[in-house]
Amino acid sequence: MKKLRKAVFPVAGLGTRFLPATKAVPKEMLTVVDRPVIQYVVDEAREAGIEHFIFVTGRNKGVIEDHFDIQFELNETLKDRGKTEQLDLLDGMQPAAGTTSFTRQQEPLGLGHAVWCARDLVGDEPFALLLPDMIMQAEPGCMAQMAELYRETGGNVIGVQECDPAEAHKYGIVGRGEEKGAGFRITGMVEKPPKGTAPSNLYINGRYILQPTIFDILETQERGAGNEIQLTDGMLKLEKEEPFWGFHFTGEVYDCGSPEGFVEANVAIAMRKKELKARVVETVERLR
Ligand code: UTP
Repeated sequence: MKKLRKAVFPVAGLGTRFLPATKAVPKEMLTVVDRPVIQYVVDEAREAGIEHFIFVTGRNKGVIEDHFDIQFELNETLKDRGKTEQLDLLDGMQPAAGTTSFTRQQEPLGLGHAVWCARDLVGDEPFALLLPDMIMQAEPGCMAQMAELYRETGGNVIGVQECDPAEAHKYGIVGRGEEKGAGFRITGMVEKPPKGTAPSNLYINGRYILQPTIFDILETQERGAGNEIQLTDGMLKLEKEEPFWGFHFTGEVYDCGSPEGFVEANVAIAMRKKELKARVVETVERLR
């Protein structure tokens, strides 16, 4: 079994649910408390042992590349002013030289197409895929737990979570088969099942470990729902040839692609910081 070394972050979406904020600023760069959303997700991948970070970007996303670069003038100024705490913070987040790659999805043709754009950078090895608008909070992190399951099972692993069964028609849902360690065999996947037909209430939560065979499938895949090349359609085909395992994540998840989830993430993460907690509680109490 090949080691899991690389992660793909598709960051080429338009972020229309966040207009006007996302007119000039990528939604992945919106700040949750003190750092951009994408930083939480890259940190989750790093904790899982990922060594190379691949970003599929688009127009207006150059600031993401700058965020993961060293800001020489800023570092010098911090040094001159003796701001060692801030310098150490930046150093600790800095990917090592040569461990980030950026490629462009020239047209936003869908998540499946964005993933396919990373094929040459991934090469012939398994890869983690993290949707950068989902912030997951758990110890160990969601991807670290999935990587552990992958070392046991091999194949493909998908992170899933429970949703209200009445809401299942809004998500990609998996069927639950035989249990294995912290995971279970996936017995089918369906994107947005019609009401009352979902095989379970376990929805695909935006974390995947996939084999590179997915690229051959995505290469010839036709457009699906929303006239986009859908990753789930590709995984459905791959599932006929290779095993898929589900990892049932039980931590917190915040969908920062929607304004409600983004606000919730800000409140939840601020509440975890002892210097902010009392003030947040007091403000919410006062305004409610
Ligand atoms: P979303 O469905 O959230 O789409 O994509 P979006 O365009 O980012 O946002 P809205 O719906 O218009 O508000 C899920 C993930 O897939 C990426 C997005 O960047 C996001 O991380 N994506 C989506 C691409 O990289 N390319 C695409 O063509 C579509």
